[in-house]
Amino acid sequence: MIFDKAKCTVMKAAYLPPALVARLDETFTLHDWDVLSPAERERLAPEVRVLAVNGESVVTDDFIAAFPNLELIADFGVGYDGIDVAAAGRRGVAVTNTPGVLTDDVADLAFGLLLATARQIVDAQRFVERGDWAKAGYMWTKKVSGGRLGIAGMGRIGQAVARRAAGFDMEIAYTDQQPVDGCPYCYLPDLASLAAASDFLIVCVNGGDKTRGMVNATVLEALGSDGVLVNIARGTVVDEAALVAAIEAGTIAGAGLDVFEHEPAVPAALQGRPNVVVTPHMASATHATRKAMGDLVFDNIAAHFAGEPLKTPVKP
Ligand code: DGY
Repeated sequence: MIFDKAKCTVMKAAYLPPALVARLDETFTLHDWDVLSPAERERLAPEVRVLAVNGESVVTDDFIAAFPNLELIADFGVGYDGIDVAAAGRRGVAVTNTPGVLTDDVADLAFGLLLATARQIVDAQRFVERGDWAKAGYMWTKKVSGGRLGIAGMGRIGQAVARRAAGFDMEIAYTDQQPVDGCPYCYLPDLASLAAASDFLIVCVNGGDKTRGMVNATVLEALGSDGVLVNIARGTVVDEAALVAAIEAGTIAGAGLDVFEHEPAVPAALQGRPNVVVTPHMASATHATRKAMGDLVFDNIAAHFAGEPLKTPVKP
């Protein structure tokens, strides 16, 4: 479909992959909020019908209000906890995200972090590189196969993690707001009880106010000195100060973390430790998946401008 560029203005207000930016620029009128002067922003804002952001963007009611003719916020990401979806709804602005296409990659990294933390793969590399193998002999690490896995949040990603865990003969239990229809695993409504019953706790819930700080000192204490925490959800879900305290005191065995409270800052206390593996919020960052996410963002925007139903709307 050919679009009338003059009538289809998109404002990019966050990092998006270059291939998606090129496609948007070719097809629509594209501006970049981050490089515009305040005067240019003010002049162009009334033309903007679509705001393109990413899963880490903070889109407040005030920011939405800066675009009086805004119709759609297209999020390059599955998480939309930074977007005030209720405010968008009140202003008649739709929101889309990119669910589904990144599920497997996020579950892969969750499992990768679980293995890397329990089996101390990163530390083992340092051990070899330091020349300790010859001096110290073997490294001893924590067994994964057959272990007890707690999954906090049995949505698409939680279920994909469970499928991987089944291949490791793990005993799986989960929490969610309610038991998930048809889910064969043991449901425990309380997160601290789940942690107490787990060797590994993987956090797969959405970010936002409902889950803020839910992995707190009580949950970490329940996980215990043999327990490993993995977080591929949002940094805000874990009380980071409590996590640092637990790691420093050895009251949990370790943590594999892809997300942090104040990204890209990672507390120094979580770095350089044998039992903590950190990655830079990269769970969905494979070439194939980032392309699929970009295609979905593009398809949502194109559907909107074509007056067709949105592919993946977020419910207000
Ligand atoms: C997502 O899709 O929400 C990822 O966390 C990237 O922001």
